[in-house]
Amino acid sequence: MGTQGVFIGVQSGERGITLKSPRELALMRQAGKVVAQTIAVLEEALRPGMKTRELDEIAFREIKRQGAKPSFKGYRGYPCTICVSINNEIVHGIPGERLIQEGDLVSLDVGAVVGGFHGDAAVTVGAGRISPEAADLIEVTREALERGIQAARPGSRIGDISWAVQSFAEGRGYSVVRQYVGHGIGRALHEEPAVPNFGPPDSGPLLRKGMVIAIEPMVNVGGWQTRVLGDSWTVVTADESLSAHFENTLAITDGEPEVLTRL
Ligand code: MF3
Ligand code: CO
Repeated sequence: MGTQGVFIGVQSGERGITLKSPRELALMRQAGKVVAQTIAVLEEALRPGMKTRELDEIAFREIKRQGAKPSFKGYRGYPCTICVSINNEIVHGIPGERLIQEGDLVSLDVGAVVGGFHGDAAVTVGAGRISPEAADLIEVTREALERGIQAARPGSRIGDISWAVQSFAEGRGYSVVRQYVGHGIGRALHEEPAVPNFGPPDSGPLLRKGMVIAIEPMVNVGGWQTRVLGDSWTVVTADESLSAHFENTLAITDGEPEVLTRL
């Protein structure tokens, strides 16, 4: 989430949005693969009874093993490699001594840098057996991201992505978080444009080949309102309802978007 960024490189004509060269896209592909591989390792390792800190250590080692660097560590003072957000936690949960329990809904958010370019992705998975309610929320959030990706075509606008996500999630009876949004990504983790998960179609910046964005729906069982915990990072649902989060980094091409954070 976020809209901070340093705007260098080729401009798209839309203020502050960079277009990536083929060489830069190649680095972003590598960063995306590191992120995808790390998420796969985390999903495999996740078990009830483990501490969230253990997941952070696994991610750190895996990112290093692949010759990359964590994106999040040190970003605005963030202390860890990944974010682990459980149940009513939406995003930016800080790994620590908390034990993952059977039935928890766990969002794993990973960022890595290769050659100065970032990749950013998240999945939400169940620990052990989860409730049908949690399973449906996960499935709808995953599909909302997929709808958003499919809307990311040259000539379309950011609002087309926003509307694809919002209309699908709300149509299934859930709400989408408004306080936190997806983002452009490249030399900075957060670049222009903001990619909201709500809003009208045919609005906002025009999508062009060479743009790279992170789409990240955060979907709640209850209302969309959020609150930040006393650690000043962890974002939770104001009504304590369950929340799920999926994210992919993708490049706008001539046709179908290229998802960079997939194996
Ligand atoms: N994927 C998240 C985002 O885009 C991760 C950021 S965590 C932070 O905001 F610590 F780096 F801020
Ligand atoms: Co992100």
